[in-house]
Amino acid sequence: MKQVNIGIIGGGLMGREAAGAFGRWFTLNDFPVKAALTAVCDLSEQVLSWYKSVPTVKLLTTDYKKLLADPDIDVVYVALPHNLHKEFYLEVLAAGKDLLGEKPFGIDLEDAMAIKDAVKAHDRFVRCSSEMPFLPGPQRVIKEIQSGRLGQIIEIKAGFLHSSDMDPSKPINWKRQMKFCGEIGVMGDLGMHVLHVPLRLGWKPETVYAQLQGIFTERPDGKGGVAACDTWNNATLNTQVDIDGHKVPMTLETKRIAPGETNTWYIEVLGTKGGVKYSTKDTKTLWTFKLDGEEQLWQRTDLGFKGVPFSTITGGIFEPGFSDCFMQMLAAYVAERAGELRDRFGCVTPEEAVASHCVFAAALKSQANQTVEKVIYL
Ligand SMILES: NC(=O)c1ccc[n+]([C@@H]2O[C@H](COP(=O)([O-])OP(=O)(O)OC[C@H]3O[C@@H](n4cnc5c(N)ncnc54)[C@H](O)[C@@H]3O)[C@@H](O)[C@H]2O)c1
Repeated sequence: MKQVNIGIIGGGLMGREAAGAFGRWFTLNDFPVKAALTAVCDLSEQVLSWYKSVPTVKLLTTDYKKLLADPDIDVVYVALPHNLHKEFYLEVLAAGKDLLGEKPFGIDLEDAMAIKDAVKAHDRFVRCSSEMPFLPGPQRVIKEIQSGRLGQIIEIKAGFLHSSDMDPSKPINWKRQMKFCGEIGVMGDLGMHVLHVPLRLGWKPETVYAQLQGIFTERPDGKGGVAACDTWNNATLNTQVDIDGHKVPMTLETKRIAPGETNTWYIEVLGTKGGVKYSTKDTKTLWTFKLDGEEQLWQRTDLGFKGVPFSTITGGIFEPGFSDCFMQMLAAYVAERAGELRDRFGCVTPEEAVASHCVFAAALKSQANQTVEKVIYL
């Protein structure tokens, strides 16, 4: 069996999540490619020391150039702050490696375009991270929409909600500072996750009216002082898409200050004949709507684990979670890279990542001018 060797640059929260998924790769049933995490780069020795317990890791380094010079590494997963995406993604490509980049795939539209151009110039296999649609619920939502059972689609709502910033005494970190995470703020953090399914279904916002909120504008700096929290914390994008010649409202919410929501990803699509909705708040439940004579029925289906794109040893009745969809996403990356994706759902493409940035750029304009803005796709 072929083996793909992976290196990680940025071994923090998401680096460790990826290490966990590669560490249980053998739980994927009949998967055509082995995957092994062999090298990790991080500036922090403390972060690196965590990886000493990962048996496949041969190289731990604070110098990413050492990792990129390793001829045995095929793919690099880069999980760094947003201001570093362009520089590191371009270096990975120039080193002749394939890339799994983190969202938002560059701090702004200009950087995302530069990355997309470099992908083409180097002709490498590149995808961007967004894992929630790999859960069985979103997969069923997609199938319901594609079945035509909804009739004419009349409304779409999708969002990703966090409450991690509800506590104003939480110290500042790079994710809350514009110079590290960009002017797009929370849209860069959560927006790609929200747009992955709509864009894959061909629902590209034509116009956007944005309501962006700062809410907490200062946070403790962790050294006894106060630091500016100068990014947008919450974003509500009122967009319009064209579906089969009909103009349809699509609301996209990305929020860091959403009371009671730890990591809630949801999508709801309503049509003239049916509807479908799913939220990770109720992880294994799919809701479908139908008309039955004079009755209007919302029907609840318990999904369990069945319906993930890549079968694993986990039984069909068991509940899926975050680490499962993250592993499914990595499996989709490795399978597609090997030409084995078939008709299964794939990771975000560079074109989709750039399209998300086009929406965010128009949203910033809309907020500044208090106007409805046309989204210009580059
Ligand atoms: N897919 C998801 O669900 C998800 C969730 C959270 C974060 N993310 C994304 O993952 C990326 C990283 O976020 P995170 O939460 O893991 O951040 P993090 O702060 O936990 O980790 C970043 C790591 O990068 C290291 N680092 C910083 N500069 C470096 C450099 N020059 N060279 C090497 N290492 C360096 C830091 O020491 C840190 O360990 C971001 O793009 C973020 O948006 C994705």
